[in-house]
Amino acid sequence: MKTIGVLSSGGDAPGMNAAIRAVVRYGIYLGMRVYGIERGFAGLLDGCIYEMNMGSVSDIVQRGGTILKTARCDEFRKESGQWKAIAQLKKNKIEGLIVIGGDGSLKGAMDLSELGFPSVGIPGTIDNDLAYTDYTLGFDTACNTALDAINKLRDTMTSHERVAIVQVMGRHCGDLALYCGIGGGAEIIIVPEIPVDLKEVCQKLLAANVRGKHSEIIVLAEGAGNSAEIAATIEKRTGIPVRTTVLGYIQRGGNPSMQDRFLGTNMGAYAVQLLEKNIGNRIIGIKNNRFYDIDIVEGLALKKEFNKELFETANIVAK
Ligand code: F6P
Repeated sequence: MKTIGVLSSGGDAPGMNAAIRAVVRYGIYLGMRVYGIERGFAGLLDGCIYEMNMGSVSDIVQRGGTILKTARCDEFRKESGQWKAIAQLKKNKIEGLIVIGGDGSLKGAMDLSELGFPSVGIPGTIDNDLAYTDYTLGFDTACNTALDAINKLRDTMTSHERVAIVQVMGRHCGDLALYCGIGGGAEIIIVPEIPVDLKEVCQKLLAANVRGKHSEIIVLAEGAGNSAEIAATIEKRTGIPVRTTVLGYIQRGGNPSMQDRFLGTNMGAYAVQLLEKNIGNRIIGIKNNRFYDIDIVEGLALKKEFNKELFETANIVAK
């Protein structure tokens, strides 16, 4: 292929810019023309397409967000929208597309592939909810952002002898809560994959109180319950003061960590290498520290398994 396009779609994730930079520079290095498509599939339908050069991606590897902007697009979910997207790509003589985004966006790449337009996906989401890859772009940075918040909350909660519930993102996946909970030494981690017994949680808090521990951190994944309701239940049953903090969109921003720049750069270059060989319909991942690609349908059909052993370890070491 000689002309390719790149877009970011869905929730932004730190490291997307590193991937865009690698796509553009590696593509140009291989003699390709690289087009940037703004605002994801929505921008593609609107024809927001421009040719990128070496300078278009200067000074972005360290920036969060995505210079190509992003969006969620209902029209593209319909087959008619997908054909319209293909017509826009063909109009611009684009032969292959790189999509950076989470499961919904990669599904979009799959739909285009199934309609015969070669597409390659790069996993970009803070949720780490894709089974075929050990890590997604943005997950590590989001974990560190949440960790920083947990550290700060620990100071004030200890001083006031309170319990903090910190609600983190992750949609239906508990990885973000699990990893930042482990790093932050959270006494309790609540995730959607493991049913929570609030009676047990209260007993644990009361037992800690008897031992002389009057402050703890509970990390709650957004998919596992409502932080305000859980706080009210705990306060009512134990009499211990509980404060909630919903971290929200802070987790999506910020300078990407080393890991996310590394993943973005390598996955971006890898995706271009595939398209250069006319290979589409693949998604890039990392497994056991090795970058690899897998058929887009096969990879997206895999079911994410929650790491129960890690969850157990977290519970054993946090007392
Ligand atoms: O998928 C990334 C994510 O940040 C989730 O963790 C969160 O549930 C969702 O996006 C929020 O979506 P929106 O940006 O549409 O509010």
